[in-house]
Amino acid sequence: MKLIRTKTYEELSTLCADLIADVVSSKPDCVLGLATGSSPIGTYDELVRRYEKGELDFSKVRSVNLDEYVGLDGTHEQSYRYFMDTHLFNRVNIDKKNTYVPNGLVDDPAAHGAWYDENIVALGGIDLQLLGIGLDGHIGFNEPADHFVAATHQETLDPSTIEANARFFASKEEVPTSAITMGMKSIMQARSIVLIASGKKKEEILLRAFEGDVTPAVPASILQLHPNVTVILSE
Ligand code: GLP
Repeated sequence: MKLIRTKTYEELSTLCADLIADVVSSKPDCVLGLATGSSPIGTYDELVRRYEKGELDFSKVRSVNLDEYVGLDGTHEQSYRYFMDTHLFNRVNIDKKNTYVPNGLVDDPAAHGAWYDENIVALGGIDLQLLGIGLDGHIGFNEPADHFVAATHQETLDPSTIEANARFFASKEEVPTSAITMGMKSIMQARSIVLIASGKKKEEILLRAFEGDVTPAVPASILQLHPNVTVILSE
């Protein structure tokens, strides 16, 4: 694992955008694994700036997102599809039909999850997976548990996650109680992984994830087993 510490969130975003831009430039039809949350917003803004300057071309890029809330339509302002559209997809020349976000409205999440994983393989696998980390150590929405879940699946959100994400909704009661998340297999099969985290509040969980035991009680700890992980942490 490579750990990079930056002073500011802006520096973190620039460095993270550098890593993504390298992949896009060297492989124009790459598959980007993308994340939501507040952490990647600066990275997406930076990618948009580079696109506007003519430095990046997303026309052949394919993307797969980590997760989506169950019950939210893609037009709901708090859905992750909406997040991706507004923060990145609508602002660059990516072909929307090449952007995949789990569908939170499906009747059969297990079948959808199986299809989602097969589709990632059919696309050729993820070249770079971007990750944030939840305060409870979740990646995507893989919550602490007694085992790792391999497949893309429906996950019940921890009360602490609902609490943490309530800031985006009018009230805590409006936060969906479950989500569809990419499982550990697709995440771990990515050729490279970049995890970004900012602020003091993430420090403790990062220590547990990267210096503690590999355990499903701290889902991000599984990344210790991946051969190509970069962690960018801003103070
Ligand atoms: C959310 C997302 C994760 C994200 C995490 C951290 O619940 N499902 O993919 O990494 O929380 O979010 P933030 O970057 O806002 O701290």
